[in-house]
Amino acid sequence: MPSPVLRALVTGASAGLGECFARRLADRGVDLVLVARREAPLRALADELPVDVEVLTADLADREDLAAVEERLARDEEPVDLLVNNAGFGAFGEVAGLDTDRLTEMVDVNVTALVRLTRAALPVLIERGRGGIINVGSTAGFQPNPHSAVYGASKAFVRSFTEAVHEELRGRPVHVMLLAPGVTATEFQSVAGVAEGAVPAVATMRAQPVVDAALNAFASGDAVCVPGLANRVSAFGSQLIPSAVTRRASDVLHRRYVGGA
Ligand SMILES: NC(=O)c1ccc[n+]([C@@H]2O[C@H](COP(=O)([O-])OP(=O)(O)OC[C@H]3O[C@@H](n4cnc5c(N)ncnc54)[C@H](OP(=O)(O)O)[C@@H]3O)[C@@H](O)[C@H]2O)c1
Repeated sequence: MPSPVLRALVTGASAGLGECFARRLADRGVDLVLVARREAPLRALADELPVDVEVLTADLADREDLAAVEERLARDEEPVDLLVNNAGFGAFGEVAGLDTDRLTEMVDVNVTALVRLTRAALPVLIERGRGGIINVGSTAGFQPNPHSAVYGASKAFVRSFTEAVHEELRGRPVHVMLLAPGVTATEFQSVAGVAEGAVPAVATMRAQPVVDAALNAFASGDAVCVPGLANRVSAFGSQLIPSAVTRRASDVLHRRYVGGA
């Protein structure tokens, strides 16, 4: 069972799941360091929350900004004992037609920043003998994703990486968990270029149950949290079915709901 969290650093806290993580952690009395590019929503959230909140504006695709967040995680004063690696984005469309820089920026944020921040936090957490990390992957990480190929691959990386680090820490008082949400009502779909209403409402969760499931699973010491029964069936079903089948099914679903070429 992980130790109680006193201060959490949440990346991507200016919207969606990250903002919800900040609110639900503040409800539990956890002090916060909020990270994202947009300063105004971070400041507005900081003013609203009844806990000690630091705002750290950073573009996680920028190595200098990323280094400042790494330095904050390693600091001994006002130590961070929970890192929520939540910032991320997707882009829908065929690889051949998507902007090259946007695709590499996606890898920078979804993969490189997540690895660097995990690497920055772990030694201090291990030395202090407390705390942990929640890495936000996706149900997209459980099978190949035509029309979202780089995004799905980035989340497959997050899944494999996080489960491996979880195992490296077995028997130690530092806990690392994968959160793999399915479709959730946030700014994610519009940022990714998906038309509003394209994904059926019945397949969409609200942010709060996703975050509450994650915080409860983290407190229980789980390795993986997939919130929502339908998402669990899809994620764990994907592990049992050959990828020749799941990639085809994923292609058909994307063409039907998101609009592949
Ligand atoms: N919503 C879904 O359907 C869904 C499903 C599965 C997994 N996820 C994952 O959940 C996580 C949170 O996404 P969300 O749904 O909450 O999306 P969202 O509402 O679009 O929020 C994304 C957050 O990431 C931050 N961000 C993006 N690029 C950044 C950069 N270069 N540097 C710093 N921060 C950056 C954004 O802040 P700024 O723009 O202010 O920088 C924003 O706070 C992501 O990792 C996503 O892949 C989402």
